[in-house]
Amino acid sequence: MTQLPAHLLQSKEFQKFIQKFPAFESTLILDEYRKKEYARLDKMHHVYLDYTGGNLYGTSQLERHQELLKNGVYGNPHSTNPTSLAATKLEKEARRYVLEFFNAQDDYELIFTANASAGLKIVGECYPFHDDGHFLLTFDNHNSVNGIREFAKKRGASFCYTPLELEDLRLSEKKLKKQLKKYAGKKNKLFAFPAQSNVSGVKHSLDWIERAQKKGWDVLLDAAAFVPSSKLDLRVHRPNFVTLSFYKIFGYPTGIGALLVRKDSFDTLQKPWFAGGTVTFAAVNESFHTLKNSYERFEDGTINYLGIPAVKIGLEYINEIGIEIINTRVHCLTGWLLYKLQKIKHSNGTPVVNIFGPKDTKSRGGTIIMNFTDSDSKTVPWDFIEYKANQQKISLRTGCFCNPGLDEVYSCITQDETLKYTEHLRTGDLSYAEIVTFIGKLRGAIRISVGLASNFEDINTFIHFVKGFKDKSSKDIEFGTFIEAQRHG
Ligand SMILES: Cc1ncc(COP(=O)(O)O)c(C=O)c1O
Repeated sequence: MTQLPAHLLQSKEFQKFIQKFPAFESTLILDEYRKKEYARLDKMHHVYLDYTGGNLYGTSQLERHQELLKNGVYGNPHSTNPTSLAATKLEKEARRYVLEFFNAQDDYELIFTANASAGLKIVGECYPFHDDGHFLLTFDNHNSVNGIREFAKKRGASFCYTPLELEDLRLSEKKLKKQLKKYAGKKNKLFAFPAQSNVSGVKHSLDWIERAQKKGWDVLLDAAAFVPSSKLDLRVHRPNFVTLSFYKIFGYPTGIGALLVRKDSFDTLQKPWFAGGTVTFAAVNESFHTLKNSYERFEDGTINYLGIPAVKIGLEYINEIGIEIINTRVHCLTGWLLYKLQKIKHSNGTPVVNIFGPKDTKSRGGTIIMNFTDSDSKTVPWDFIEYKANQQKISLRTGCFCNPGLDEVYSCITQDETLKYTEHLRTGDLSYAEIVTFIGKLRGAIRISVGLASNFEDINTFIHFVKGFKDKSSKDIEFGTFIEAQRHG
C-alpha cells in the first residue's frame, strides 16, 4: 500500500475528506505517479487545474518514445523498403492497440487525425446531408461540433438544437425524445452529442446512442472530454462515429486524434475529394479515381508516423494505472471540491462561488464551472479571478470554452439578445469584450478540472484561493485597480 506523506496523514481536513470519500484510498498509487512522473509540477510550484484543456504527460512516456526513436530508423510508411516497413509495423501496432483500448477491434475503422476537431470535420464534410438530411445537436457542444451545421446548411439540410435544463445543464429528456421522433420522414439524420461536457462536466447518458439509432438516426459521439477519465466500451455503446484527441488522455503527443467509424457506417461517409495515400487508382489524362476501402481513405497524405507510436505508449501507460483508478480519483476530488466550495460563504451568508450545473457527483466528470460573487452579490469579472490565480501559479481556464450554447444557457442570454448583437456585428465592428456592455449581462465563467495527476493538495490550494475572496467587495481597491488597468490597456 502506498504511504501518504506524514503531513497529510496528520491533516484533519484530509481525514474528513477520506471519511467522506473512502474510495480515494484505492487510488493512492497515483500519488506515487505524481512523485515519479510529474515531479516537475511540485518542483516548479504549479497547481494544474486544466485537465479538460489538456492532460499532462508522465516523464516515462517521453523517455520510452525517445528510446524508440533513438534506436530505430523510420521512413515514410507504406512502402516495402526496410525503414518504411519498420514505421508501418509501429503504426499498425498502435492502431491495433487503440482499437483494443476502446474494445472496438473488429467493428470499427480507426482513422488517425490531427485532433478531435479534424475527425469532426471529416464527418461534417462527408455525411450525406444533401440527400434529405437533418442535423440534430445539443446546446451543450464544442464549437467543432457546432461548426458541422455549416456543412449541413450549405448542402440544403435542416438542423436544430435540443435544449438543456437550466438547473443542472443536462439534456431535457422529454424534448429530446420528441425531437428524435419528429424527423421520421428524413433520410439522412445525424445526431451529435458529447459523452461529457467540456464545460459543466455533465456526462450525458450514452443510452441516447441506441435510443436515437432505433429511431433511424446515425450518432456522432464527441468523446474528447469523456475518455481521459472514463472507460468507453464500443461493444456496449455503438455510435456510428466517435471523435477524440489523445493529448487529452495522456498529454503527449499533441497533434494526434482519432475518428472511429463503425464498419457498417463506413460507406455512409462520402469523401468529396482524394489525396495522397487515399486512392487505389487515380489518373490525370482522365478524371478518374477510386478510393481505398479502409481507414486509409480518410487519412490524407502522410500520417504522423513518428508520433503515432507514442499513442501506444500513452495508452499502455493509462492501462498500467487503470482507467477505473483515474475515474475514482477524479470522482473523489470533484466531490470534495463541490462539497467544500458550496460551503464557502461571505459573513452575510451569500456564497463566494456560484457553481453552474450539477452540484453533486452523480453522472458527472471532473470539470466544474463557476463564477465568483463578491460580498454585495455582484459577479467578480472572471479575468480578475484568472489574474489572481496566475499570481499563485494556479492554471485554471476562463471564458466560454468554445461552447457558446452552454454559456448562453447559464448566462441566460436570450435568442433575441444574440440576434441584436449579431446584427451589430454584421454592420459594425463590435468586439467580443463589448458584448457585455451591449447586452448588459456578463458572459463566461471560470473552469477548473482535475485529472490523473491531481492530488489532495492541488484542490486544497484552490479551496484556499476561493476562501481568499471571502468578504471582499467590488469596491475593494484591488478590483478597481485591475479593472482600470484593463480599461487603459
Ligand atoms: C468535448 C470536446 N470536443 C472537442 C474538442 C476539440 O478538441 P481539439 O481541440 O483537440 O480538436 C474539445 C477540446 O477541448 C472538447 O473538450
